[in-house]
Amino acid sequence: MSNPAQRLSLRRPDDWHVHLRDGAVLQAVAPATARQFARAIVMPNLSPPVTTVAAAEAYRERIRAAVPAGCGFTPLLTAYLTDTIDPAEIERGFNAGVFTACKLYPAHATTNAAAGVSDLARITPVLETLERIGMPLLVHGEVTDAAIDIFDREAVFVERHLAPLLRRHSALKVVLEHITTAEAADFVATGGPNLAATITPHHLHINRNAMFQGGLRPDFYCLPVAKRERHRLALRAAATSGDPSFFLGTDSAPHLRHAKEAACGCAGIFNAPYAIESYAQVFEEEGALERLEAFASLYGPRFYGLPPNEERITLVGEAHTVPARLHLNDAAGEAVELVPFHAGELLRWRLSPEGDV
Ligand code: DOR
Ligand code: ZN
Repeated sequence: MSNPAQRLSLRRPDDWHVHLRDGAVLQAVAPATARQFARAIVMPNLSPPVTTVAAAEAYRERIRAAVPAGCGFTPLLTAYLTDTIDPAEIERGFNAGVFTACKLYPAHATTNAAAGVSDLARITPVLETLERIGMPLLVHGEVTDAAIDIFDREAVFVERHLAPLLRRHSALKVVLEHITTAEAADFVATGGPNLAATITPHHLHINRNAMFQGGLRPDFYCLPVAKRERHRLALRAAATSGDPSFFLGTDSAPHLRHAKEAACGCAGIFNAPYAIESYAQVFEEEGALERLEAFASLYGPRFYGLPPNEERITLVGEAHTVPARLHLNDAAGEAVELVPFHAGELLRWRLSPEGDV
């Protein structure tokens, strides 16, 4: 006699950090996020970046057109901060419900970050505006100083830039995105209610060895780069702790296979297709499945001042192998090739296609 499969019902989660891209690739990747999540904070690092209300509205329409009709997915847009962005434009977009948050990329920190902020002092009026209107600042927390070792860039950013920033703007709501270090986790855990962090599935599963396992493995290269094992364990402890300062943000960042497997491969891991299954596995391994719903579906909306989703999803305890490659149709109907996170691996949980059953 076979045992009935285990089932786990939770409120539909949201993804508080995702890259949906644009153009033909948007059509290929957005459905994966819309299938798993009700809402997503969409990163603005397009080329050119999303810096105006008009650009964000147009992008939001392109996203809506790229997800299946009637799927109920809501994209939440962000403004890309530059040295010269006008605070009045940000405030107008926030009041109009177009911008949910602002994204701070230190200039040159990552993909399409060349137009990012070169010096925090240059955006003081923007930060004062965000503080006044209660609009969250989402931070890519890495220094770009070439003299700082790449594995230390997050911890140095926290000490050199984030701590002083929070002292100067004590009412600012800040999300330190995709944290990768014990230092960042400690800083956020003790930082008070205006400070939170997102944690990706990949930083919970892999440490830096994954990039070099038997050769150079570009599919595990992302920014901030995965760190030592002790940091991964600290992130697992933070994510599963029940501390509302830590919530789900996949940082799913698709690049076509040929752009990853290149002499100068792009940073980013495409984890959207199996994201909730990936997190569920971590929470199960940590003996904390009962805390998955709060991390995935409650603490994010609480920080952003939004209601949690009423709809529910079901995860079924049915092991399945993630495909080695995905061939997804782009806007022109051409198949694009992407390698999903967990390619070729077994995952313990499967998102039920029937919704809450
Ligand atoms: O790995 C990453 N990929 N990290 C980022 O910060 C940006 C992202 C992208 O857009 O490709
Ligand atoms: Zn990102």
